[in-house]
Amino acid sequence: MINLPTWDESLIKKYNVSGPRYTSYPTALSLQSGYDVTALRTAIQSSSSHSLSLYVHIPFCHQLCYYCGCNKIVTRHQHKADTYLDNLELEIKAQAPLFAHYQVEQLHLGGGTPTFLSPAQMSRLLSMLEQHFTFTPQAQRSIEIDPRSLADNMLEHLKTLGFNRVSFGVQDFNDQVQAAVNRPQHMEDVIALLTQARELGFKSINADMIYGLPHQTPESFAQSIAKLIALSPDRVSVFNYAHLPDKFAAQRKLKEADMPTPEQKLTMFKNTLAQMTEAGYQFIGMDHFAKKQDELAIAQQHGQLHRNFQGYTTHGECDLLGLGVSSISQIGNAILQNEKDLKAYYDAVNQHGFAVHKGMKLDDEDKLRAAVIKQLICHFELNISQFEATHNLDFNTHFADALCALAPLAEDGLVEITAEKITVTSKGNLFIRIICMCFDAYLQQQLKTSRFSRVI
Ligand SMILES: C[S@@+](CC[C@H](N)C(=O)[O-])C[C@H]1O[C@@H](n2cnc3c(N)ncnc32)[C@H](O)[C@@H]1O
Ligand code: SF4
Repeated sequence: MINLPTWDESLIKKYNVSGPRYTSYPTALSLQSGYDVTALRTAIQSSSSHSLSLYVHIPFCHQLCYYCGCNKIVTRHQHKADTYLDNLELEIKAQAPLFAHYQVEQLHLGGGTPTFLSPAQMSRLLSMLEQHFTFTPQAQRSIEIDPRSLADNMLEHLKTLGFNRVSFGVQDFNDQVQAAVNRPQHMEDVIALLTQARELGFKSINADMIYGLPHQTPESFAQSIAKLIALSPDRVSVFNYAHLPDKFAAQRKLKEADMPTPEQKLTMFKNTLAQMTEAGYQFIGMDHFAKKQDELAIAQQHGQLHRNFQGYTTHGECDLLGLGVSSISQIGNAILQNEKDLKAYYDAVNQHGFAVHKGMKLDDEDKLRAAVIKQLICHFELNISQFEATHNLDFNTHFADALCALAPLAEDGLVEITAEKITVTSKGNLFIRIICMCFDAYLQQQLKTSRFSRVI
């Protein structure tokens, strides 16, 4: 378990800068064009894993939430999902034979909104996947659910299709906030769904919240968090609203005057930390909380937590295959991404069954730095001699640049560096992204050309 973050106003002023979320290292920003199925084949050959985590991206949503930073397509036309499934089938049929020696241990449907699919479309998707991939009997099957767009009996249906984990997008319970972001939803519906999910025996129920939205105040958000805690989800993600209006045009609809100030946002996060931990949740890191008996919390307690494109996970040793538009795969030495544009994705899978278009091959240095960053972001501590023995190197010599970058953070008390280990302190927990940034060899170049969200 990691130390609970402590609050130091002067450090927050100094270190609340922008930075990557490290769902991978190198981050997706390092991906280059010019990759195709050859790279996928080479990646599979380079991998020693026989375990697979499948991610399927369903891009459609019924209505646009103005804050949204996801890769989505807003439409009311249900038949578009049929066309999408037709194309996904082409991709699955072409890819699955390459993974014949793998067993699927984890399936995650993300979006957009996977529950945009009707029950019949969802059945079709699952039968396509089961027909072409081999699933272990105990495979985790999880899905992101928009509580507002769930067909009648969909939760029961998902259960019969073998789903055992659900994640609900809640964001906020406050009516004024919901209206401002164009996402009205009745609290009663969320309560009914969470209750039903529990009755149906879903193992882990997650809820997403966002702080930093228009009209939120520390008081209003604390009320929303209290309402959520009363529903007792197993996991809670409390995302810091990522405002990137140059990239997501709808975010420009949010009025500057309605937005909480940076100070109010910090208070919201501080209150959330206090409320969640008081209610018995373990702070996993960054924006995640889990009940102490939840698998995610247990994995962290046992030093077995991982991080991938879906965030913190218990299945990091699996290769990750992303299917669908814009999906990212991480296989062996490679990170590969499908076409991001729907038409380009359709054209690619129709021509050759594959839509890989960007990627990068990790070299030995990338893998070493990825190992450091993963250890720090998951466990907030790195045992230097263990790392040296595993990777056959002298840590201080090899990472002299990173340790140099880390020195001022150590001086400010965010990390403790001894001959044996690097430990993120309770003061430093909030700034884990900044600590990881010291080990990122690509960052300086990316900071010049890309925008990141703020760390708190
Ligand atoms: C794909 S959506 C979840 C499923 C479904 N579409 C829904 O909204 O309920 C993933 C999550 O990303 C988060 N999210 C979306 N845009 C965000 C932004 N700009 N900043 C922070 N979090 C964001 C929301 O919490 C959302 O629930
Ligand atoms: S938050 Fe979810 S429902 Fe809203 S636009 Fe984004 S992906 Fe769609």
